[in-house]
Amino acid sequence: MLPEGTFERKVAIVTGGGSGLGRVMALDLARLGSAVVIAGRREEPLAETARLIEERGGRAHPQPTDVREPEAVDALVAAAVERFGRVDVLVNNAAGNFVVKAEELSPNGWRAVVGIVLDGTFLCSRAAGRRMIEQGEGGAILSVIASYAWTGGPGTIHSAAAKAGVLALTRTLAVEWAEHGIRVNCICPGPTDTEGAGQALWPSEEDRARVASTVPLGRLASPEEVAVWAAALCSPYAGYITGENLTIDGGHWLEQESYLPALGKKRD
Ligand code: HXC
Repeated sequence: MLPEGTFERKVAIVTGGGSGLGRVMALDLARLGSAVVIAGRREEPLAETARLIEERGGRAHPQPTDVREPEAVDALVAAAVERFGRVDVLVNNAAGNFVVKAEELSPNGWRAVVGIVLDGTFLCSRAAGRRMIEQGEGGAILSVIASYAWTGGPGTIHSAAAKAGVLALTRTLAVEWAEHGIRVNCICPGPTDTEGAGQALWPSEEDRARVASTVPLGRLASPEEVAVWAAALCSPYAGYITGENLTIDGGHWLEQESYLPALGKKRD
């Protein structure tokens, strides 16, 4: 969709870029000309994403980072500057999730997910935003949320609360940093066919089929069809879009099924 070279001379940071949707978004930004710094906790998947990018002629730097640690996040931005000279795009994709009853969630479990999703998004946005402000040439920040940010999500109280925070953070920064030409947006993928999401949210084939059946379009998303919109929102083609969320979920969150049986329609 976007022409090659859209991100020429740009530098992007993708958190959680070692696997799943993060890896696909990193590959896509690199394909479109960006140098990409890939952040995540585990070294091997980061190195593998970097290898895939370089194999295709792109520029990449893997930077082991726990986004909950302010010093590590500062080091991440410093690494991008040292290696590629600047920061133009930040994709806040790192997430943690598991399905748990609220009454059974330990304080540590709450802190782990809220720490990665909400603290991590704040810390990365702050560090990258500071650099973008200093550069004086604008920038784009994109965060990955989920529709339970506004509907609530039984079994995911930590993630739902954190993603709601990220949406509020996005709208806040969009206004605060507009004067610096920094656009701040979200994408909201529905159930996306990645290993990490599968393990956390639909561990069996049966669970997977059940989740797919709740999507009006009748299937999970591929990471590629989500990544294309992530890149578009970070590109100059979205130059007048800020503080916005783009939901890419096959109609998932709108599905209430209330009167479908009366229409003789039933998914399953
Ligand atoms: C209950 C759990 C648990 C589980 C961990 N904990 N897993 N509690 N059920 N399945 C608790 C632990 O017992 C511990 O609390 C606390 O959480 C911290 O666990 P750690 O393993 O020490 O934490 P950490 O290493 O920081 O790992 C964070 C994590 C992990 C969130 C727990 O799963 C992770 O990093 N996942 C990243 C990958 C991931 O989840 N990707 C899926 C994202 S998909 P105690 O009290 O015992 O010390 C996604 C899509 C949503 O978000 C969109 C849907 C539409």
